[in-house]
Amino acid sequence: MENQTLQDVKLSDGTKINDLVNADKGIISPRIFSDAEIHQLELEKIFAKVWNFVAHETEIPNKGDFVTRYIGNDRVIVVREETDKINVLLNVCMHKGMHLCRTDSGNSKNFRCIYHGWTYKTDGSLVGAPAAKEAYKGAFEKNNFKLVNARVETYAGLVFATFNEDSPSLDEWLGDAKFYLDCYFDRTPQGMEVVGPPMRWVINANWKSAADNFASDSYHTLMTHYSGVELGQLPPNPMFASHGVQVALENGHGIGIVGAPPNIPLPEYLALPEEVVTEVKKKLTEQQIETLRRSNFVPGNIFPNLSILNVMQLPGLEENEAPIPFLSMRVWIPRGPQELELISWFLVEKEAPQWFKDQSRDNYIRNFGASGMFEADDAEIWTGIARVTHGVTARQKLKLQYIMGLEADHDPKDWPGPGKITHTTYTEENSRNFFGQWAKLMSEE
Ligand code: FES
Ligand code: FE
Repeated sequence: MENQTLQDVKLSDGTKINDLVNADKGIISPRIFSDAEIHQLELEKIFAKVWNFVAHETEIPNKGDFVTRYIGNDRVIVVREETDKINVLLNVCMHKGMHLCRTDSGNSKNFRCIYHGWTYKTDGSLVGAPAAKEAYKGAFEKNNFKLVNARVETYAGLVFATFNEDSPSLDEWLGDAKFYLDCYFDRTPQGMEVVGPPMRWVINANWKSAADNFASDSYHTLMTHYSGVELGQLPPNPMFASHGVQVALENGHGIGIVGAPPNIPLPEYLALPEEVVTEVKKKLTEQQIETLRRSNFVPGNIFPNLSILNVMQLPGLEENEAPIPFLSMRVWIPRGPQELELISWFLVEKEAPQWFKDQSRDNYIRNFGASGMFEADDAEIWTGIARVTHGVTARQKLKLQYIMGLEADHDPKDWPGPGKITHTTYTEENSRNFFGQWAKLMSEE
């Protein structure tokens, strides 16, 4: 965010992007959460330019396995081809633009369009068209009609894609976020697996409300999730979620690592079972092991819209129950200025004992599945923001205050990982980092 240079990109009414977001001061216009023109610009200047998360490698383990996903508002097919390579293909038939593959997932050697039957291989090349000789009188060069292919790169089992030929490598884009992705997504020799198909549902909210919340807002825990306190699922002291660090990373990525408050003994390593911790120690570096040891509740966001959640929670409300952690990731697909589609996955270490896999998944569903208690709390907040920020006066007169922690120190000492460190999670440093990156990309020609 330092040295950020915003150019004078203007909306059609003359408003400049840098009049709407002053990330250094934490001042943000509500207009960015409700404006159709801004939504369209985001699709062009952010989602079409950067790496988008599309799938986990274990969702498509076999040749021919595919899932259908999004890059911004473009639909794509993520498919493992014969050579084991993963391709991401624009899900639009090259003939007359029909939606080519209309199912969520499956296994296939090829994709046949239901309009006229043009058929494509898993690398996107056209196998042929029905009655091509007769219909086209020989003037049909099928090599010209390959599906549009995205660039594809993976890290820690996470598959990213972009149609932008000029973007930096995924490695460069993730930068120091890779240290933390190792800790939470690739921490044992065999790695993670996605269990079951992801849950998908629609929320009447702007995607940035959710991404900012995960990037990460610990401050809301004791108010938004107060019912969790009343049920004994969260400690009653409102300061409990402030203990730990907030880590701002380059390119707008951010992570919050809430650890044990003084005098409240919480298990180390997120309460992972001993068998998993033993495997973790074989895979991670000393610094990463220490990071994980101090982790209890970890939300984060890889810019723009891949959020992560690795937290421990009580499995139920019985006395003396031990907390069980779960790992989820989710993308907030932008469907409109006030509508997002949420795709939410559950993951677990391949080496974990079956009892843990089962209990961890139950805990994810109960708390952060489509009808999960905490998920419903958060959705109510994001829809509430969407409901009121599009009013004429709200858009014209209001300035939202992301000012917490403006004066905080960022001393890296006593923290084993990289990034700009704030030694409390009660700060909005990561929000400013997120919106700073947003404004930067929105201001680029
Ligand atoms: Fe797909 Fe015609 S639109 S075959
Ligand atoms: Fe929340």
